[in-house]
Amino acid sequence: MELHPLRVAEVAPVTDDSVAITFDVPDELRDAYDFAHGQHLVLVREAGGEELRRTYSICAPAGSGTLRVAVKRLEGGAFSSWAHSDLRAGDVLDVMTPGGRFTTALDPAHRRRYAAIAAGSGITPILSIAATILEREPDSEVALAYGNRTSGSIMFLEELEDLKDRHPQRFQLFHVLSREPQPAELLSGRLDRERLARFFDTLLLPDEVDEWFLCGPLELIEGARALLRERGVPGERIHREVFHADRPAPAARAAAARAAAAGDGRAQTEGAATVTAVLGGRASTLSVPRAGETILDALLAVRSDAPYACKGGVCGTCRCRVVAGETRMDLSYALEEAEIDSGFVLACQAHPVSDTVTVDFDQ
Ligand SMILES: Cc1cc2nc3c(=O)[nH]c(=O)nc-3n(C[C@H](O)[C@H](O)[C@H](O)COP(=O)(O)OP(=O)(O)OC[C@H]3O[C@@H](n4cnc5c(N)ncnc54)[C@H](O)[C@@H]3O)c2cc1C
Ligand code: FES
Repeated sequence: MELHPLRVAEVAPVTDDSVAITFDVPDELRDAYDFAHGQHLVLVREAGGEELRRTYSICAPAGSGTLRVAVKRLEGGAFSSWAHSDLRAGDVLDVMTPGGRFTTALDPAHRRRYAAIAAGSGITPILSIAATILEREPDSEVALAYGNRTSGSIMFLEELEDLKDRHPQRFQLFHVLSREPQPAELLSGRLDRERLARFFDTLLLPDEVDEWFLCGPLELIEGARALLRERGVPGERIHREVFHADRPAPAARAAAARAAAAGDGRAQTEGAATVTAVLGGRASTLSVPRAGETILDALLAVRSDAPYACKGGVCGTCRCRVVAGETRMDLSYALEEAEIDSGFVLACQAHPVSDTVTVDFDQ
């Protein structure tokens, strides 16, 4: 993944508290910014001498040629508030080439049923996924349960209604509103675990769904995933994208490290290990403490090209594979079970355990 300066073509309001940002992509970078439905971009901004990196899902269909994200304003949010008040067409931002694996391979011969659960700004990748599936798989169906407070806070309401009008038999859309009564009781209230369970009993029967896409706050996603797993849905059929998780405080990290050490009887939190990182075809070897600093933080001191954004274990930008030695992670919301089984880790959450470790960012 590489960063390139891209010109903002348009900043357009989506709701009172969200804007869509469209970028101009020069011809020579078209291939680099080609994206799959569900992927995201990392946008970079300098503020007070500090570099802010934030991840935003692409909310346009794959193959459309439109590179667009939507940003919901958070009170006091360093990037999102600025994007609302100060960002203008003509400004130039550093934008990372598309990344993420919140997607699935499509085939016009598929006859599948996909279901998505989203809340608030979690609709952004789902809009891209739904529109792309409906376009590319003419025999497949998509059902979406989308939670918001009121109808005024629904992002991309018109585009969703338009999708429904164009594919009335293949796109089912359930708006769930927590602060506005709806004709059906099931659709009035918070899209919480209890309401999801009722959806899974009635409108979204897990047995009839081939693949699930969950996107929104951590609590909703973890709740939905746990319910689906309880109902026998295999983990590999549940895709999830977490937008935010609070980072454990350093004390919690140290406690986790001590607990890990006590758990298997080795003094793996003491001293430093020798870590070799392969990145862009070039290997760098460095000393990394077993506790405290992560492999990513240590690597950034010598390789400023190391990929990252959130440093909180949610965006997956720092994903790499452990090809030799052993590491442990503080947490991970961005890796599928199969990826962890194949040796992938998040460098921003990883600490060395063995004396020597080799991680490969190019895999
Ligand atoms: C894979 C991925 C895709 C994302 N896609 C989108 C998207 O399409 N649209 C979008 O608007 N956002 C998206 N986000 C969230 C986005 O990256 C930022 O976290 C968000 O815009 C807040 O950044 P900020 O600088 O404004 O807030 P900050 O200054 O970083 O944080 C301000 C306060 O809000 C809290 N906070 C930070 N992020 C969130 C959040 N998402 N929800 C609740 N509280 C939060 C912080 O803990 C802090 O207290 C995505 C995140 C990920 C990991
Ligand atoms: S930088 Fe986001 S998961 Fe590591």
